Amino acid sequence: MMAAMRPVIIAANWKMNTTPADAGELAATIAGRIREPAVVRVICPPFVCLAAVGAALADEEIGVGAQDVHHEVAGAYTGDTSAAMLQGLASWVIIGHSERRRDHGETDERISGKLRRAVEAGLRPILCVGEVLDDREAGRAVAVVDGQLHGALAGHLPADLQAAGLVIAYEPVWAIGTGRNASGADAAAMAEAVRSSIAAIGWGAAAADVPVLYGGSVTAANIGEFLAEPSIDGALVGGASLKPDEIAGIVARAGLTANARLVETAAT
Ligand code: PGA
Repeated sequence: MMAAMRPVIIAANWKMNTTPADAGELAATIAGRIREPAVVRVICPPFVCLAAVGAALADEEIGVGAQDVHHEVAGAYTGDTSAAMLQGLASWVIIGHSERRRDHGETDERISGKLRRAVEAGLRPILCVGEVLDDREAGRAVAVVDGQLHGALAGHLPADLQAAGLVIAYEPVWAIGTGRNASGADAAAMAEAVRSSIAAIGWGAAAADVPVLYGGSVTAANIGEFLAEPSIDGALVGGASLKPDEIAGIVARAGLTANARLVETAAT
């Protein structure tokens, strides 16, 4: 399938910012600035802000996502959040973010379990992969990401993950929150490598349909460099997603690509 058929997605990862008292207002402000229906838009606030953000976005076509989900269905897991708890609060979920791999010891096996829980619950997963700086400098970036993809995806039926609308976010760890973004060309090469890995995991030609986002210090000023690459289908945005002017600029630029793809699709 050509890039023209894949949606353009901008997902906001608010990380550990906002409170239930102020998240709704921020979501409403942002919603008013990102009314671009050709772009699939998602806001992922902290768990405790999901209800407030959902209420603020009730009349908007903007998805609400969680930033994590537990790998077990229920049980003695103090402080954790299951997929069932997210019903009615979120329709998307970020899985395997590098900050959770680093700070919460998330292994590929657990990430695979989280994917299973998301699929069962009808949550659309955004699976994060990415290498650390040492890996990139040693020329191991593609191998590391390939390993992460195998670890997360190999135990699943491709049809299940396809039905769930799996999205991959390529987020080089050295680019997250550092102000040092990857180049568009490097990100595009990795997006192609991601689809090759997924094809080899058993998806075959269906891997070409998987949206691949770039994440890591995305701003309104640099989003164009990524969206100029046909293999990149949008962005997972952290810091800039809390700033209405920034996220408005990012979604406006994404709208150009999304509308161009719609025209291209209509013409084929
Ligand atoms: P950043 O975060 O945009 O602040 O670099 C991206 C992410 O971690 O998803």
